[in-house]
Amino acid sequence: MKFFVDTADIKQIEELIPTGFVDGVTTNPSLIAKNGDDMAKTIKAICSIVSGPVSAEVTATDFDSMLEEGKYLASLAKNVAVKVPLTMHGLKVCKALREQDTKVNVTLCFSATQALLAAKAGASFISPFVGRLDDIGEKGMDLIEDIVVIYENYGFETEVLVASVRTSQHVIDAAVIGAHVATLPPKVIHELYEHPLTKKGLDAFLDDWKKTGQSILPKK
Ligand code: E4P
Repeated sequence: MKFFVDTADIKQIEELIPTGFVDGVTTNPSLIAKNGDDMAKTIKAICSIVSGPVSAEVTATDFDSMLEEGKYLASLAKNVAVKVPLTMHGLKVCKALREQDTKVNVTLCFSATQALLAAKAGASFISPFVGRLDDIGEKGMDLIEDIVVIYENYGFETEVLVASVRTSQHVIDAAVIGAHVATLPPKVIHELYEHPLTKKGLDAFLDDWKKTGQSILPKK
């Protein structure tokens, strides 16, 4: 399972890269706004330190402008995946960009039929938003399950990118289902390795070790 980092904050990405589990990055207009810096500059900077796909989202809503924005975003770096919304124009732009071999992430997916259409349009990634479905009382993970089965049934190559992830349980559920990717806010990434028993155990080991008066490295 691949992990993307769901942020436009370069410092947070830099901190996570040495762990080896940053397979890509996703941004959206809200994350770019939160980060506060120029979008093109931010995307270029992220692409220079992350070798996997970096999603950059269009903000136009009509076909021509969306395609123009998508081509521009794709020109910023080789690993940009252009993010388009799941609308009729977005799907058309997806098809057009895929014909030019540009990676496309179709976002704001809330139903299996939407996911089916995105795959037929050749999307590289489909982004179903599990947290936002949970927020309205639905089970976001049921959608992931359906999409994974549908894509397997027809051999679609579109990768299921679980988005709007809020908890480590979302990550476990997505992994059990077999989703290809989960995009995680840095906060959730840190929750994945933290465990109270790890901390308790480490504290006890270090206390006992201190009592021995030893040091592992030979004294200089
Ligand atoms: C990423 O591709 C999505 O834009 C993001 O995961 C949405 O997350 P949110 O629902 O927490 O805003």
